[in-house]
Amino acid sequence: MNKEILRQTVTRLVAKPKGILAIDESLSTCNKRFEKLGISTTEEKRREYRELLVTAPDIEKYISGYIIFNETIRQKTLTGKNFTDILKLKGMEIGIKVDEGLVDLPDHPGEKFTQGLDGLAERLKEYKNMGATFAKWRVVYSISENTPSDLCMKTNAEILAKYAAICQARDLVPIVEPEVLLEGDHTLEKCYEVSAQNFKILFIELKKFNVFLPGIVLKTSMVISGKNAGDRAPAEKIAEMTVKCLEEHVPKEVGGVVFLSGGQGDEEAVINLNAISKLKSSWHLTFSYGRAIQNPALKSWAKNPEDITGAQKLLVAAARNNSLASVGQYK
Ligand code: G3H
Repeated sequence: MNKEILRQTVTRLVAKPKGILAIDESLSTCNKRFEKLGISTTEEKRREYRELLVTAPDIEKYISGYIIFNETIRQKTLTGKNFTDILKLKGMEIGIKVDEGLVDLPDHPGEKFTQGLDGLAERLKEYKNMGATFAKWRVVYSISENTPSDLCMKTNAEILAKYAAICQARDLVPIVEPEVLLEGDHTLEKCYEVSAQNFKILFIELKKFNVFLPGIVLKTSMVISGKNAGDRAPAEKIAEMTVKCLEEHVPKEVGGVVFLSGGQGDEEAVINLNAISKLKSSWHLTFSYGRAIQNPALKSWAKNPEDITGAQKLLVAAARNNSLASVGQYK
């Protein structure tokens, strides 16, 4: 492990006023989103869409790196340029989703663990040769009366720690993503409690596996009321409790902290990040959004597939809004 390389990559990923764009939807997730909008679910359509995302002019002013998917890292533009070469030319980091999705946790209804450790070291070698400098692995916890259990959090934390250690051995920065899902009617206080416990268990495991904390990026959900909660807490409360939870439960050596949007509305995700950025914290807290940045562009492209420029303008505008929010300057 070259700690200096890891530190430098983290520094570039969370440089102000930028954030990370996630376009790493698995085939099934991408196809589901396409189907909903009446887009055909072919490899060529996915390539076309991702060409639009990768070639958006000037997006590099707001985005430090793209997280892409196994299919995308191999794809080219219509004129034959590798997507990876385009990202590199624009000075952006290339990240790759390396987990292989969710599996039911036996005897724990509603709980999942994330698979994909088999062959990971070999896959990383190939991705690194293709230009990747960081990777991403997501685990999920849903809040209900009986979930998440400590067993589910410990199982996933151990998997995240093994993944992170394997990435760092190859000088790739691991994005460690333990997502507390937004679905449900839980209170913000309940989300705080679960998020705090999640971090406690996570950092015990990361330390056990000697993960170099300045060389990781923590990708987390905000401390937020459930999507269907009756009285959802406002942005200021989300910001206060999110920063409190991070400050109290995340070791200060962690290199970077970014947020997922997790199904928040596009504007909601910007406003919440803006409120968070106004508070004092130990990190430049920024975004690593997927849907909250892609949504307007995807919808526009679904309606007008010829109008690539129009869709790209919407993508860059969303990236810009979130960049402003990451330094507390949105509106
Ligand atoms: O793993 C989740 C993605 O990288 C972020 O996607 O912002 O749509 O939740 P999201």
